[in-house]
Amino acid sequence: MKIAVLAGDGIGPEIVSQAVRVLEALASDGMKFEIESALLGGCAVDATGSPFPEATRKLVNEADAVLLGSVGGLQYDNLPREQRPEQGLLAIRKNLNLFANLRPVVLYSELKNASTMKPEVISSLDILIIRELTGDIYFGEPRGIKQHGGQRIGFNTMIYSEEEIRRIAHVAFQVASKRSQKLCSVDKMNVLECTQLWRDIVTEVAKDYPNVKLSHMLVDNAAMQLIRNPKQFDVMVTGNMFGDILSDEASMLTGSIGMLPSASLNDKGKGLYEPIHGSAPDIAGKDVANPLATILSTALMLRYTFNEEEAALRIESSVKKVLAQNYRTSDICQPGMKEVGTKEMCDAVLMNL
Ligand code: IPM
Ligand code: MG
Repeated sequence: MKIAVLAGDGIGPEIVSQAVRVLEALASDGMKFEIESALLGGCAVDATGSPFPEATRKLVNEADAVLLGSVGGLQYDNLPREQRPEQGLLAIRKNLNLFANLRPVVLYSELKNASTMKPEVISSLDILIIRELTGDIYFGEPRGIKQHGGQRIGFNTMIYSEEEIRRIAHVAFQVASKRSQKLCSVDKMNVLECTQLWRDIVTEVAKDYPNVKLSHMLVDNAAMQLIRNPKQFDVMVTGNMFGDILSDEASMLTGSIGMLPSASLNDKGKGLYEPIHGSAPDIAGKDVANPLATILSTALMLRYTFNEEEAALRIESSVKKVLAQNYRTSDICQPGMKEVGTKEMCDAVLMNL
């Protein structure tokens, strides 16, 4: 199993090195990993001038899976857009054709009091947000800022082809068939033509999956319903930008964005695995970041790219156990719990593994 490791910026190196320790522990139990690191994001700009250097492109193309930390930092905010760390992330998603982004939003029962939401609203929450990741306004052309009538205008293009919608819809229906046979597609068809097409195509694809109950929801309502009654959802599917926003919102249902892993897959099962949170420059290098989202991302890697369900479950149940043993990083800590740093949290996971 060849894994490219891209630690990135901010807290990225700290959390990724903990996740690699988990893989190494599995390796000492007989699994075989070939792990190689490369630069992505701001650290890559510093070293080479490009956020997605050629050496990284080569490595991720050869690898079976990619483990990513996070990219970005305040010092890069004034760089030209093509040199921004985020461009490295977008380029790698596009380059590997990782169109299907799976973001499980699972509440560990031990954390039901760590969320800002009432425990009864979120208890046993288990949602899967499927976000289209290589299209939409993120990549649409034309885009830019230009002079127009004596002032500057900024513009982007929200665009989806039928084919792009169809392939993500198939992924969503297949995933939904294996869960509770419920799929909610989120759009803004009352205003945007692009998402009218989204709704039309998703409705068409639904005919291939008569066992799945499809519903549609406008994105503003979905944002509200996620807070009002999140347990009405099982699998949600939506476009790139709505998925970006809704998944951050949904993460807080679970107590902390520091708990959410993600998998970005292409049509061959190749995947990039990363926590959904950012590089958190304010806490970088302090050994306080929560490594669990990244550790849980390795579980998704074992499940989706390597078909190692048992190893994936081992990691997930170890995480559950450390929470039951009251270990908490500061983002999820509460009175009476044992506050630990990034490395100690991983130590606890390894003890349980
Ligand atoms: C995410 C992030 C990225 C995105 C940023 C860092 C470009 O917010 O993965 O959700 O917008 O997709
Ligand atoms: Mg985001």
